[in-house]
Amino acid sequence: MQNHRQLANLALVGFMGTGKTSIGRLVAEQLHFHFLDTDEIIQSRTGRTITDIFAQDGEPAFRALEKNLVGELATQTGAVIATGGGLPTNAENLESLKNFALVVCLWASPEKIWERVRSQSHRPLLHDPNPQKKIRELLTAREPFYKQADVLINTDLRAAREVAQQVALQYKLATRPPR
Ligand code: S3P
Repeated sequence: MQNHRQLANLALVGFMGTGKTSIGRLVAEQLHFHFLDTDEIIQSRTGRTITDIFAQDGEPAFRALEKNLVGELATQTGAVIATGGGLPTNAENLESLKNFALVVCLWASPEKIWERVRSQSHRPLLHDPNPQKKIRELLTAREPFYKQADVLINTDLRAAREVAQQVALQYKLATRPPR
């Protein structure tokens, strides 16, 4: 681990439907950290849903909101931060996150992702005639970014609680004082 990094926070990155929000809440409880979710912050500040922001202002406007928010989050300490699925696909965002957080990626197969998101309608990128194909394409394009996380955890066969324990353990290992 590089010395200049301040691992005062833990950031969860990964594709839609990998459980960043639900697992993030559990991890925050375990570490006695507070929980933040970039999508929730953007929605509460703008008073609009992500679907509305995409529809009215376009995806680039949403990405600009995400980028500004990452800049602000650098002042946090003791936070578990769940990020939107596209946030770390901007190299600058990923680099910033790494400066102030241990970055943990939650991974899942396209099949598992589809199983988890198919009954939900709040993700504009999946409002597509062929959402399964879209998931595979986006996941392939994003994989190189997700794999730059400090830690990668496969969630396919694990219950949320077990994944949360793994994440908390990785954070404790990464931040334990040198002996
Ligand atoms: C997005 C993922 C969503 C949300 C927006 C765009 C993406 O967050 O930020 O719909 O580009 O993958 P979740 O990963 O929390 O669903």
